[in-house]
Amino acid sequence: MIVLINRYRYLFYSLLLLVGSWAHAQSELPIMPYPEKIQLDNGKFYLTQSFNVSIEGTHSDRLPKEASLFLNQLVEQTGLFLNYRHVAGQREQAALKIVTERAGNVEIGENESYTLQVNASGIVLKSETDIGASRGLMTILQVIDGDEKGYFIPHVIIQDQPRFAWRGLMLDVARHFQPLQSLYRTLDAMAAVKLNILHLHLSDDQGFRFESKLFPELNSKGADGKYYTQLELRELIAYADQRGIMVIPEIDVPGHATAILTAFPQYGSKDTTYVLERFAGIFDPTLDPTNEEVYVFLDQLFGEVVKIFPSPFFHIGGDENMGKHWDENPDIQAFMKAKGIRTNHQLQSYFTLRLQDILDKYDRRMMGWEEILADDLEQSAVIHSWRGEWEGAAPKSSLYEAANKGYSTILSNGYYLDLILKAKDSYMMDPAPTSANLTASQRENILGGEMCMWSELVVAQTVDSRLWPRAAAIAERFWSPEEVKDVQDMYDRLDVISLWLENFGLKHISSPNRILRKLAAGHDPEPLKILIDLVEPMKGYTRNPGGTMYNTFSPYTKWADAATADAQGARVFNQNVACYLHAKIGCSDLKSQLISWSSNHQKVVPIMEDSPALREIETLSENTSKVAKLALETVGYLESNEKPGSTWFVEAKQLLSKASEQGGRTELQIIDGVTNLVAALEGEVK
Ligand code: ACM
Repeated sequence: MIVLINRYRYLFYSLLLLVGSWAHAQSELPIMPYPEKIQLDNGKFYLTQSFNVSIEGTHSDRLPKEASLFLNQLVEQTGLFLNYRHVAGQREQAALKIVTERAGNVEIGENESYTLQVNASGIVLKSETDIGASRGLMTILQVIDGDEKGYFIPHVIIQDQPRFAWRGLMLDVARHFQPLQSLYRTLDAMAAVKLNILHLHLSDDQGFRFESKLFPELNSKGADGKYYTQLELRELIAYADQRGIMVIPEIDVPGHATAILTAFPQYGSKDTTYVLERFAGIFDPTLDPTNEEVYVFLDQLFGEVVKIFPSPFFHIGGDENMGKHWDENPDIQAFMKAKGIRTNHQLQSYFTLRLQDILDKYDRRMMGWEEILADDLEQSAVIHSWRGEWEGAAPKSSLYEAANKGYSTILSNGYYLDLILKAKDSYMMDPAPTSANLTASQRENILGGEMCMWSELVVAQTVDSRLWPRAAAIAERFWSPEEVKDVQDMYDRLDVISLWLENFGLKHISSPNRILRKLAAGHDPEPLKILIDLVEPMKGYTRNPGGTMYNTFSPYTKWADAATADAQGARVFNQNVACYLHAKIGCSDLKSQLISWSSNHQKVVPIMEDSPALREIETLSENTSKVAKLALETVGYLESNEKPGSTWFVEAKQLLSKASEQGGRTELQIIDGVTNLVAALEGEVK
């Protein structure tokens, strides 16, 4: 961390050197999510061997556990040998005093605020609830710094509270199962960035992951042996509660139901046998809403789920039911006619309202994807908005429609991590920006946001690098004041926070490196690291055309799996180009980097010869070196009196266009920067 914050400070000063529009609002400390109010002083409180923690006031047993975890982290981060590793009750001389008023409840709208005061006499963390104190402990870990005298925390006063009550992450554990260790790691990292909802998408066409003792066929036929036992889930939920995180179950019905129907074909809308789905897409198998036995089954199954998940919310899915098997079934058509149900949406609403009765009985609030929105839906339902357009930073979607109708609602559109958007793209999306002109009650109904990690192309080895560090940037959107939205500043802090998150056992940096080492087939992987830092996996669903290039058993140790959504090398290069073209001073040297890239392909070639799996990147690697050479030439022309002829520009653009094509299901990200260099030269020539 010492190195990290120092590097951050370096960035700070180097950015101060930039002029005009290149200067930007720079945060004072690398905290993410950034706090509501921060007042930084000059002093430093040094951490010594006698650092100790006391807890005062009323709290649950969550707090000593969290304080103990905090101490573990502090020791790991600093390498300090502490004399006191246990957390005590009231202690006059404590370096860190935690003072709480009451035990917190893991519920929406709970008070999570805290204040942190660090001065010469020590650190005081005050909060109403012990959950607020846990949030504050994470802030402390983020501001530990070091200098020649040792480790310290800067003198500071922080007042902090979340902007949105619902700060969620949905993990699809159905399409690709995630082992428990992934879930625990995810919870730790979520707590680190103050997220408070883990939504588990437990069933889909590809698998049913909740152990049912009443219906064991769901697991024996619908899970390939991969599911969570009830005991495992109980323990996970208890741990999440300690971390101030609610775990919400989703059983996706009536569509996305192939796994259920593989076990119980009699509940389907088509008289057929079903087999687990192996590909990605929207499929036809759908529960039969006209079959009373379906409701008996779901009643019993939901009853089993609510015994394990104490969350007041129960997600029934409800998305993407195309109703094809309903259209094809004459009995269902007759049922609709008899009941005056005219459309499939109305039939789905009939189904949804039946489930609402079941969930009411279990004292659970129904939550579902936006398709559950129906005329007679009870006001207690929560609408999960996932489709729609954007108008600037504001969503144009069911979010506002639901909020307008008085429903609590949550936004996921914009926060689909599987689309491989850059962090900044999701970061700039705001569930309820001032510009949206919402009424007070609409605002109140928008509980917050939830990022979604759909797992068609994600396995245990890659889930961390698909989630992190982007999830930290989105966590900031959900927690921090609306005005915290400087993209450059976010990235500066995200680079620091990404490394800090490794302290929690995340593999988002190590796993891609492991894939690269494997692909390097015994060679030094450095040339591959240089190239991977310039590419990103294909965006949207383009990596997997038609949902059929990959299936659930495909390898996810390919070149694209080592690439991440925000290629840092390319980002820095594109920034440097912008600096070079506009500010001219204080910019990093472009040339040395371009020289290294232009010879990188020569170094990749011998690796490729020994690594058949790498051959898919041959053209990408070659084009990258060519583009780097082109950029070098361009800079050369820009800096001399000699200018190229018109055919040079034609060839340059042809190369840039060819180099934009995918290679190894990834796309080169330095094209924009080089295109801007060429355009600047063209501007000079004209
Ligand atoms: C969804 O993405 N089908 C909710």
